[in-house]
Amino acid sequence: MELTLAGTESTGTAMSVFLLVIGVIVGVGYIFHNVVVKGKRCNSKTKLHGKTVIVTGSNTGIGIETAIDLAKRGARVILACRSQHRAEAALAEVKRLGKSNEVVFMQLDLGSLKSVRSFAETFLKTEPRLDLLINNAGIYVQGRTADGLGMMFGVNHIGPFLLTNLLLERLKECGPSRVVNVASVAHNTGTIDFDSLNTHKALGLGDSFVASMKIYSDSKLCNVLFTHELAKRLQGTQVTCYCLHPGNIKSELGRHTSSFLKTIMKPITAFFFKNPFQGAQTTLHCALQEGIEHLSGRYFSNCTVRKVYAKARDDAVAKKLWEVSERLSGLS
Ligand SMILES: NC(=O)c1ccc[n+]([C@@H]2O[C@H](COP(=O)([O-])OP(=O)(O)OC[C@H]3O[C@@H](n4cnc5c(N)ncnc54)[C@H](OP(=O)(O)O)[C@@H]3O)[C@@H](O)[C@H]2O)c1
Ligand SMILES: *[C@@H]1O[C@H](CO)[C@@H](O)[C@H](O)[C@H]1NC(C)=O
Repeated sequence: MELTLAGTESTGTAMSVFLLVIGVIVGVGYIFHNVVVKGKRCNSKTKLHGKTVIVTGSNTGIGIETAIDLAKRGARVILACRSQHRAEAALAEVKRLGKSNEVVFMQLDLGSLKSVRSFAETFLKTEPRLDLLINNAGIYVQGRTADGLGMMFGVNHIGPFLLTNLLLERLKECGPSRVVNVASVAHNTGTIDFDSLNTHKALGLGDSFVASMKIYSDSKLCNVLFTHELAKRLQGTQVTCYCLHPGNIKSELGRHTSSFLKTIMKPITAFFFKNPFQGAQTTLHCALQEGIEHLSGRYFSNCTVRKVYAKARDDAVAKKLWEVSERLSGLS
């Protein structure tokens, strides 16, 4: 009798310890996920009635969440997407969730300079205002654009560079207005080598994961330097610009990677990555937050301005990159 009791007691204690351990793990996991991973929310109350915004790559991921939020605030939202088919589904979704009919699709392929020019032409002809340009679209895959540029360099940098320049006059006329460039923390490992900027042949890493990551990082460093130089050129106007890291987000960005990598990444993204809604918060902060105009040209993450390495705010490199980009995009 006594023996059984003692047995039950120790099983009971073991059970309590077990439950306590599980509780602590779940608790820490919950706090980790909701405080650290989730990050800050954009808490700007800014309304956008009568304002027009462009969000590139807004048929999925961070872009569609950004578009929904801006539509809710009353903006006229232009979904600038490359695929009509994919954009049509998004159009219905943004209208429904944004509770707005002021949402339109305009075709834009950032991998084609011709498409960028024709988008800008159509936009400027049909839309009287532009208050916010959100350069969100991005890609992670090797290859060539229609113009023969490196795919990531072309789509992530040259396309948005040309688009922004073609729309700059309209932004100035509508000031105060803003340009927001979705860069990445990956820019930290990027470098600007003007000899291989567009070819990346010098790397000799082929199509490997390391090579792709490097080219992606370089293109994101271009985003940060572009923002730095743009802010300088916009001094004295009512237009400000910002770039940012959205966090690590569960999106379609890795869609072209190997199925092996996708399998490895699944549990990591499930636990450590933000969802696209959370991923849109820093973009929204840069687009909407009152009183950040003096931070034009700077880099944000988790809705907070951050310092970047010297290479990401190098005046000479930023200026040269601008000039090279003008040439490659056919602006000069
Ligand atoms: N996910 C992350 O962890 C993370 C981290 C740091 C930075 N970012 C940046 O965040 C931005 C948004 O990415 P995401 O994570 O939301 O990825 P995503 O789900 O893959 O969305 C990317 C968007 O860009 C569009 N796009 C791709 N190539 C284009 C082209 N040639 N012309 C026009 N649009 C094009 C895509 O259109 P289709 O659907 O038609 O391909 C899609 O709408 C990117 O700039 C990315 O570099 C993401
Ligand atoms: C984001 O900011 C919040 C609030 O300041 C903080 O609790 C969280 O740890 C930060 N997350 C990241 C990823 O920096």
